Amino acid sequence: MIELIKALPKAELHLHIEGSLEPELMLRLAKKNNVDIPYKDIEAIRDAYNFTNLQSFLDIYYAGAKVLVTKEDFYDLTWEYILKCVEDNVVHTEIFFDPQTHTQRGVPFEVVITGITQALSAAKARYGITSAVIVCFLRHLSEQEAFETLEQALKFKQHIIGVGLDSAELGNPPSKFKAVFKKAREEGFKLVAHAGEEADYSYIYEALDLLDIDRIDHGVQSINSDALMQRLKEEQMPLTVCPNSNIELKVFDSYEQHNIKQLLDFGLNVSVNSDDPAYFKGYINQNFINIYEHLTLSEADIVTLIKNSFRSAFIDNDLKQQYLRQVDQVLL
Ligand code: ADE
Ligand code: ZN
Repeated sequence: MIELIKALPKAELHLHIEGSLEPELMLRLAKKNNVDIPYKDIEAIRDAYNFTNLQSFLDIYYAGAKVLVTKEDFYDLTWEYILKCVEDNVVHTEIFFDPQTHTQRGVPFEVVITGITQALSAAKARYGITSAVIVCFLRHLSEQEAFETLEQALKFKQHIIGVGLDSAELGNPPSKFKAVFKKAREEGFKLVAHAGEEADYSYIYEALDLLDIDRIDHGVQSINSDALMQRLKEEQMPLTVCPNSNIELKVFDSYEQHNIKQLLDFGLNVSVNSDDPAYFKGYINQNFINIYEHLTLSEADIVTLIKNSFRSAFIDNDLKQQYLRQVDQVLL
């Protein structure tokens, strides 16, 4: 089965590009850009990756992102992730980035988006990997600041498929961003939001009803409401689930306790994603392998999860069908 997991083409729909910053690149860029980081070597970095909840991770993740300064840094970051896609057979990826993490320290939006999109164009030319970019608003900041970020994103509309909502969930409900999501929708963006990762399922209702999102990122807390489960099933609302992340951030105590198999068995449109792979011990294949090994997933389960990733992607129907056929060809 592990060989099959590796062999199947996949789409990744929930990946923070800043979360793919490997310790080696962090050290190299810190030195090059003269940025102070509180680690003397790779081992010290890895030792610090010992999280108790989402906030304990975010503190370290935002500190790490400070080493990213030039367009070339964002290019190298994205290119390293693309090489992991090649390794893991990810043929389509939809990448989040957090502009405010960079603009707040004086790195222009343009520098970030240009570095990322140039690497994505090279990925298409070199490996045929297709991609899209989603701009995330940091929910611990104000809606006004999200509006300012949206304004900047509009200047690069041709490179951006949608907007999302991430960062500290507890105390920052979707309702806080209702107006800016409405504006983003009017501008033609796809809409996604992290909801029901750490906070309860009321945040998922808000994301659906107040933000009118197209996909839910995480959404694992939906299990606590029968009515919500039923609705998500009827609407076939995509849930981009990130197993390693949920374990590393203590959303579940162990892989055995993870509810992805229950969500899948209930008929929800669930996919598997790596979230912040450099921080959470592995890229997409490792996420599949971990749930396969601990939750007795069948081959049919794995195939459904992978097909769901293509079904839920922001791509046109022809490309979707082409990728779904590629999955079937491996299964022949
Ligand atoms: N930013 C990066 N990873 C995140 C996660 N898992 N939840 C919320 N914000 C994030
Ligand atoms: Zn995430």
